[in-house]
Amino acid sequence: MCGIVAYVGHQEAYPVIIKGLKRLEYRGYDSAGIALINGGLNVVKKKGKVVNLEEYAENTNLNGHVGIGHTRWATHGIPSDANSHPHTSGDGTIALVHNGIIENYLTLKSDLEAKGHIFKSETDTEVLVHFIEDIRNQLKCDLEEAVRVALTRVVGAFAIAVITTNEPTVLVAARRGSPLAVGIGEGEFILASDITPIVEYTSKVIYPKDNEMVVVNGVDYKLVDLNNNVLEPYVKELDFELASIEKGGFEHFMLKEIMEQPRTFHDCLRGRVKADESIIKLGGIRDYIDDIRSARRIMIIACGTSYHAALVAKYLFEDLAGIPTDVDFASEFRYRKVVIDDQTVVLGISQSGETADTIVALEKAKAKGAKVLGICNVVGSSIARMTDAGIYTHVGVEIGVASTKAFTGQLAIIYMLALLIAKEKGNIDYTKYKYLVHELTQISSKIEEALKSSYSAVERVSAACKNASSMIYLGRGLNYPIALEGALKLKEITYIHAEGYPAAEMKHGPIALIDENMFVVFIAPKDKTYEKIVSNIQEVKSRSGKVIAIVTKGDRTISEMADYTIEIPETDKLFTPILNIIPLQLLAYQVAKLRDCNIDQPRNLAKSVTVE
Ligand code: M6R
Repeated sequence: MCGIVAYVGHQEAYPVIIKGLKRLEYRGYDSAGIALINGGLNVVKKKGKVVNLEEYAENTNLNGHVGIGHTRWATHGIPSDANSHPHTSGDGTIALVHNGIIENYLTLKSDLEAKGHIFKSETDTEVLVHFIEDIRNQLKCDLEEAVRVALTRVVGAFAIAVITTNEPTVLVAARRGSPLAVGIGEGEFILASDITPIVEYTSKVIYPKDNEMVVVNGVDYKLVDLNNNVLEPYVKELDFELASIEKGGFEHFMLKEIMEQPRTFHDCLRGRVKADESIIKLGGIRDYIDDIRSARRIMIIACGTSYHAALVAKYLFEDLAGIPTDVDFASEFRYRKVVIDDQTVVLGISQSGETADTIVALEKAKAKGAKVLGICNVVGSSIARMTDAGIYTHVGVEIGVASTKAFTGQLAIIYMLALLIAKEKGNIDYTKYKYLVHELTQISSKIEEALKSSYSAVERVSAACKNASSMIYLGRGLNYPIALEGALKLKEITYIHAEGYPAAEMKHGPIALIDENMFVVFIAPKDKTYEKIVSNIQEVKSRSGKVIAIVTKGDRTISEMADYTIEIPETDKLFTPILNIIPLQLLAYQVAKLRDCNIDQPRNLAKSVTVE
């Protein structure tokens, strides 16, 4: 939520920052702003997307080699020019950008108001910059010291970048809870919420830890903690392809990411599954396999799409590995009394690795003595660093706000883990294990087939339901989470109301909604509940509902009953969720396109939710 970029170096700062903000726009797009030092402080900020800011700034003389920028997802105060970052001190000499929430801002604000500070916005961030100014005036110190002292008194989460006209070559940045990467180039420094604005200029990056500050002064920099200790930075060499953050000819990142799934799924398995020898190796959690095998219980914590992956995991861990597994929304877990001990393995699933609810819930589990493992996509993210061990999905940067390839990547890891533990526990017959491992390695080519074979059917369905006001998604067992995920995708990017249910639950209430205007998506693979699903379809048809059925290739029974049929390739019933989600992602995408929605940046959303 919110993206920050900062630059100090030999180049003009404005183009570097604007480009960086465009890369970070997935984190929030309520407003954008830039502050540059060029003699005085030059601040431009505008409600709306980065492109609005760019247009607005077109005729402004934005020169300077030191600057900060921000793209906002509104928390405190409506999206407006006034609430946009950067915020400045009362005397106009300090500018600051912030990602996070200052929780004690109201107390700080009333103290500052009592001292005569006047605020122009409703934000917590403006309070922080005034607080820094106040400390600087009191202590008669430099920016670094004022920021350090202020941060020791601030409660909450932040990644900040601060500049001042009093020290025109200095940039101070710090983090607690929110992400920050510092690119170390040749005579230049680029700081940002993630590495995408940095990779063009340097491959050397530092990831400051919580309560650490980076102070850049011209061509020098240092890493310090909030107790003023100078630290030895660990400079990481990035291995990153610029093309992975470009659209590569696709109209939207979401479509590109949907289409990438045959490769990304394969990448998840690469080096981890040897089909010929039926070996699964998960190096990241090598030292914790015994803990999982002997765990009394697995508890999975996640939000949104990652929560749906967790529901698939519950099914697999219980069915294949025989380990009782619970799944909870991170935001619920953290506020209830939970019974976990050192015999519980807690697994956090998160694409970004920065979701605040998940981080806090995992911290709680850790404090209770549980082994805490993670499945993350973003390398070096907060969850990846705070967990005892973990597995990366390795699907590459996911930019579309609606998660697609990260979900199938999470599923890839979950299937490998479930099969590995099932084998280690002796819970699965070896012949079946071998067969399932082999099937798993066939999935990426079946995803490719599903993308090709379902595309035109999905286009027909999209044209039919593009004006629906509500849709129901039904699935059973392993495919119930897929019904939830399909409905979430539709809601997020088309703004059509959609609900997922276990198919058999329909008769306990939702059936009241069925009439000739209701589209009902049935996920109907040939598994043990197939006949029951056929009956559910009859129930919808006899109430004039419109049936869209996702079926196994060659299914005649359902095809003859349904209004629309989308076929997926045949696979073992255990793996059907991975293939069934593909046409549902495409369906949401196509409907959003027909409704002319902003697909990569849906309203009110942001890619990573770094506030609780
Ligand atoms: O980065 P995370 O996986 O922790 O994010 C969790 C949710 O915020 C995320 O899945 C969200 O629901 C997506 N917009 C779904 O498309």
